[in-house]
Amino acid sequence: MGPMHLTRQEEAVLAGETGQGKRKALELLVALGDIYNAERLVPIASAQVSGASFKTVGDAGIKWLEDFSKAAKVSVRATVNPLGLDMRRWKSMGVDAEFHSKQDRIVSAYKAMGLEPLYTCTPYLAGNRPRAGQHLAWAESSATVFANSYLGARTNREGGPSALAAAIIGKTPEYGLHLDENREPRVRIDLEGIPDGLVPLAGYVVGKIAGNRVPYITNLDITADGHKAFGAALAATSAVSMYTYSEKGRRSRTDLSRIEECVSLPTSELKACADGLKGDDDWDLVAMGCPHCSPAELRSMARRLKGRRPSKRSDVWFCTSRSVYAKCPKEVAVLKRFGKVLCDTCMVVAPIEKTYKRTASDSGKAMVYLPTLGRQRASFRTTETLLEAVSR
Ligand code: F3S
Repeated sequence: MGPMHLTRQEEAVLAGETGQGKRKALELLVALGDIYNAERLVPIASAQVSGASFKTVGDAGIKWLEDFSKAAKVSVRATVNPLGLDMRRWKSMGVDAEFHSKQDRIVSAYKAMGLEPLYTCTPYLAGNRPRAGQHLAWAESSATVFANSYLGARTNREGGPSALAAAIIGKTPEYGLHLDENREPRVRIDLEGIPDGLVPLAGYVVGKIAGNRVPYITNLDITADGHKAFGAALAATSAVSMYTYSEKGRRSRTDLSRIEECVSLPTSELKACADGLKGDDDWDLVAMGCPHCSPAELRSMARRLKGRRPSKRSDVWFCTSRSVYAKCPKEVAVLKRFGKVLCDTCMVVAPIEKTYKRTASDSGKAMVYLPTLGRQRASFRTTETLLEAVSR
């Protein structure tokens, strides 16, 4: 296959006729498209850009973003992943002034380029909910899985720079999960049913089985928030950004003709995985909201904690988006008695290693990243167990 076909307008952008920022952005997309044998660029409905916390961006990244921001503006709706701090309560998180000022430069660069100041991994809960069939350029791995698998939109798992370039051009190269043939499942995984609280670990185990094949999962009878937690963990333990599934009593419309392997995943294996990730019995930090909590999750946690008192055995973080926080003042008031309700950030991209060593979470994804990015001894517990532990 030859190089990607470009329209006359795209050729003009590449020749620098619409400015150097656009030229650089399109060059990046064309290089990517050529590597993956894309035939053309397709228009996107939105972009979601990762690489927002100073902890992952670093000094070189700030310079790159600042240079880029002088010459480029986004041309479609674009949001940003969580930062390394809550913009209003960063001092109470133990973040120092230097980190804050560097984080501020990243925020300013994104703002100058016209990205929405929506620092969340769940943009679909914060006003940017894609429709089925729409092409996107999203970078956050948990959000790409949710968009592809639950919402039926089409996005590859972009890197920060390619998502930003797509936001500037308003298009992305058409390869990978933008094409029907790559969305067909190759491995079938039979679940017996998932015990309460272990949905994130089901994603964790399914990801390990799937590797780089889109899985088809039977009997995945879970809520939208279940899909959020399941997909986040799946993306953390695999290279895939999509799954297909059936629910009990519903006929699936998935084409199963390319399935090459069938695996059964008994409940006992999920329980064994939970045991393996148990870790310590007491913690410096209990962190919930990975991915960021939905209104329904805040409601259910507040309901469980109402009438109880904080146990004060460890610090507690509930992470959510600023938009969901603003929608749930009563729930936030209840949760605040037990810990911090943080926006714009999370336990993985905040510099928690400066304050904590042992962190417990109910997230399968966090079990992958807390030990690496967060340098924590991580413990998995169900949401219910954690709520019990933080209250009395
Ligand atoms: Fe979101 Fe942070 Fe988890 S970005 S998916 S809360 S690691």
